[in-house]
Formats: sequence, structure tokens, C-alpha cells
Amino acid sequence: MSHAIIDLEHIDITFHQKKRVIEAVRDVSVTINKGDIYGIVGYSGAGKSTLVRVINLLQVPTKGKITINGDVTFDNGQVQLSSAQLRQKRQKIGMIFQHFNLMAQKTAYENVAFALRHSKLSKEDKAKKVSELLELVGLSDRADNYPAQLSGGQKQRVAIARALANDPEILISDESTSALDPRTTKQILALLQDLNQKLGLTVVMITHEMQIVKDICNRVAVMQNGVLIEEGSVLEIFSKPQAALTQEFIKTATGIDEAMLKIAQQDVVINLAKGSLLVQLNYAGTSTDEPILNDIYKRFQVTANILYGNIEILDHTPVGEMVVILSGTLDNLSAAQDAITKAGIELTILKRGV
Ligand SMILES: Nc1ncnc2c1ncn2[C@@H]1O[C@H](COP(=O)(O)OP(=O)(O)OP(=O)(O)O)[C@@H](O)[C@H]1O
Ligand SMILES: [Mg+2]
Repeated sequence: MSHAIIDLEHIDITFHQKKRVIEAVRDVSVTINKGDIYGIVGYSGAGKSTLVRVINLLQVPTKGKITINGDVTFDNGQVQLSSAQLRQKRQKIGMIFQHFNLMAQKTAYENVAFALRHSKLSKEDKAKKVSELLELVGLSDRADNYPAQLSGGQKQRVAIARALANDPEILISDESTSALDPRTTKQILALLQDLNQKLGLTVVMITHEMQIVKDICNRVAVMQNGVLIEEGSVLEIFSKPQAALTQEFIKTATGIDEAMLKIAQQDVVINLAKGSLLVQLNYAGTSTDEPILNDIYKRFQVTANILYGNIEILDHTPVGEMVVILSGTLDNLSAAQDAITKAGIELTILKRGV
């Protein structure tokens, strides 16, 4: 059974400036379960980092209740723990950032060791721990290098080792791959996924890139102007996005937009035969493309010309997307559409041949 490790109930965060009131977060409720890799997606200014600061116990929300691993930390604008308890709780939450935030005058080893300065471990155990952490992030051979001698990806590995020094239960990543190239991003994401599995670490991924969510998250929340507009499993959100903003984010991550441009330029599409339909098929889970397309041919003599196809595994489930031209008699085409829909495949008509 999964249990909530981070529970936010009706969180409001309001900033008062001289003449303005900024409602950075409005009535946000989210439950993150232990072991989740939970994505929080939104454009700049959506309130993501502000929300992270309350999860990380650095900011008291104006309203709402926060429970971290069974302990209420804030309730209705009030801190519920002593400062010692807060400090202790905060140690169990690791943070990594876009710009790494390493100390330039300290080596990789010293940067990680610094996080253990208040630890009760013996000197020997601390040294052992730092070496183990550097090993864990694949950076043992760079222990004596200064940040300036390390690549962006290596710097982020040091930051991850540092974030894990006090054995946190939660790791929060605020745009931790935004300054990295795509290949390095994939490597860092693979490391986070590995840590999630090996250590049972709960990861909160703040990002403006849906591709990152698609690659490693199991759940996602979409934020816009301080409001949480959509939340669900990555599978649900990618196969049936509701809000317009969610749909926009997903398009950038699936590549179908690019494919559609190429498809639209093909002769068979420009001169779509009378009675033919250009359709998009989306499916998730067990229903697969081929049998249903064979099926509609056998049952209704409707042919399917596949112009584009893509299958991805999201959170262990195949999710497919196809663009096909269906051709047949009017009645048979309509029967075939019904059969496709009945098989649990979402069908969108993109163009009708006239
Ligand atoms: N301390 C503060 N005082 C006043 N306003 C603030 C403060 N912190 C954040 N804000 C405002 O709250 C809103 C949300 O900011 P936040 O940094 O949470 O956005 P974000 O989603 O993290 O954006 P980005 O993707 O650019 O990092 C913004 O309008 C910001 O100006
Ligand atoms: Mg931010």
C-alpha cells in the first residue's frame, strides 16, 4: 500500500508588497505518495518554486495544512513544530537546483562533506559516507576536483550527492536539468530514477518540460497562475489531458506536431480521396493498433494506410498514437469507427476526403 509522504491541503501563499498583493499559490491540494516521482509542471511564474519552499519548510503558507511523513508542519498560517524539529525535518528533504549551488572554493568531496557538518557521525564514518555518496553518483574519481573543473552534469552529480548526505526521504529537484544539454539531462534523469528505485527515495520534479515528466514521473500536477489545474497519473494525463494548457505541454513532448506538419504535406493527404478519412488514433494499455486495423479490414473491408505511428512506455504501460487514412464505403467506414471506439481507442477525425 502506498502512503502519503507529502500532503498539502488547500494551500494559499500570498505575498504583500507595497501596493500589490501577489497570490502566488491558490488553494492547492496535492498528495504525494512514498516512492513517487512526482512532476509539477508549469510555465514561469506559475508558483512552482513557491510551493516547493513550503514543502521544504522554508516558507510558512498563508493558509492550509501541510503534513510531511505523518507530522503536521504547518496549519492555517502557523508552524506546528519547534525550530529543532523543523531543522530535523528539513534535513530529511534534499534539494537540487538549476545552477547546482556548489561552493566554488571547495572540492567535490568537501562540498558533500559540508552537508554532514552537523551530523553526529564520527570523523571516519563521515569520510566513509562522503566516499559512498560520490560512488553512488558515479563521481569517485573526481573527489578532489573543484566545481570549475567539472562539467555541468558532474556538478549536478555532486549536488545530488550533497542532497543525499543526511539520508533524506524526499528529494526535490527544482529545474535541476534546465542548464544541461539533452544527453546529460537523460543521464541525470536516469540517476534520479535509479536512486528512487534503489533507495525508495520520493522525488518531486519541478519542471517546465513535459518530456522530463514523460521520461521518469509516475504522477504529475499542472500549475497555472498559482492554481493546480490538473493532476493525475502520467498515463491518464498523457492519454486524456483535459485542460488546454496540459494539452499544449503534452504536444511539445510527443512530437506529433512535427509529424503532423510532414503528414499534411503528403500528396495522399492533400488530395485525400473522396470517402476517405484522415484520423488520429490514441490508445493506452492493452488495446494495440494492429489487431483492430486487421479486424476492421476483415469485418468491413475498410483499409488503413498508416502514415505515422509511435508507441511509448509510460509508467510501464504502452501508449500509442497513430495517424492513418481509413478508406471504404460510407456505411462501412462508420461501422469501422464504432468498432475502433468500442475497442477503447480514441479516434479523432483530422480530415475528410471530398
Ligand atoms: N518572496 C516573494 N515576494 C513577492 N512575490 C514573490 C515572492 N516569491 C515569489 N513571488 C511571486 O510569486 C509568483 C510565483 O513565483 P515562483 O517563483 O513560484 O514561480 P515558478 O513557477 O517557480 O517560476 P519559474 O519557472 O520561473 O521558476 C511570481 O509572480 C513571483 O513573482
Ligand atoms: Mg521556479
